[in-house]
Amino acid sequence: MRWLVTILIAIVIVIVAGFIVIGTMDWSAGKPGSLEKSIMSRVKYWRVGDKDAKDPLPDTSDTVKEGADHFQHHCEICHGLDGQGTGVPIVSRLSPPVANLASARVQKYTDGQLKWVIDNGIRFSGMPGWKGIISDDEAWAMVRFIRHLPAKGSLGAPKVFQEAEEEHEHGAEMQGEHAPPPQHGGTQHPEQHPH
Ligand code: HEC
Repeated sequence: MRWLVTILIAIVIVIVAGFIVIGTMDWSAGKPGSLEKSIMSRVKYWRVGDKDAKDPLPDTSDTVKEGADHFQHHCEICHGLDGQGTGVPIVSRLSPPVANLASARVQKYTDGQLKWVIDNGIRFSGMPGWKGIISDDEAWAMVRFIRHLPAKGSLGAPKVFQEAEEEHEHGAEMQGEHAPPPQHGGTQHPEQHPH
């Protein structure tokens, strides 16, 4: 009979402990608690493969520049020109937020893992997979760029967001002078930025 009592007490302890943990978690949407966050990032590190794959491109300034060109074409809309989110309004609004590629957490990945992330994306986040859209060489060049990111803010905001801001300011000015309201029909769509 004693063993039954012991088991019952153990079960009660587990349930109480569970409630304490749940009580300390922040359940509001978009702001996962620290426990949930740390579990998710553990799961992510298990899932990200190709740990030992080596970057076949030389680690030279030419490769970094090539990687920067591809990055600024495909990735700036979320990551900013500098990979650190400069001037990108959505950076902190996504859940999880857009990663700062200069952060210790991202730099901890091996080259092979960074390539894997670019190919496959990160599930349950805004980070898309690019396999089939960009070539292996382009992805490897971007890995080199991610290892040599420019100083945060040094490249300014992506052009699409600069234009949006200027347009906004211009519109306000015109209204102040009792000019007709700004036309919205003909404005360029952010996705159609020139190559
Ligand atoms: C639509 C927005 C978006 C675009 C475009 C985008 N990313 Fe991301 N990226 C994200 C988000 C959101 C995360 C954070 C994912 C997370 O923390 O789980 C992320 C994370 C990353 C990471 C780190 C992975 C991690 O564990 O957080 C790398 C590396 C990365 N992106 C590279 C790129 C590259 C290279 C491109 C362009 C080829 C690109 N991204 C385009 C949204 C984007």
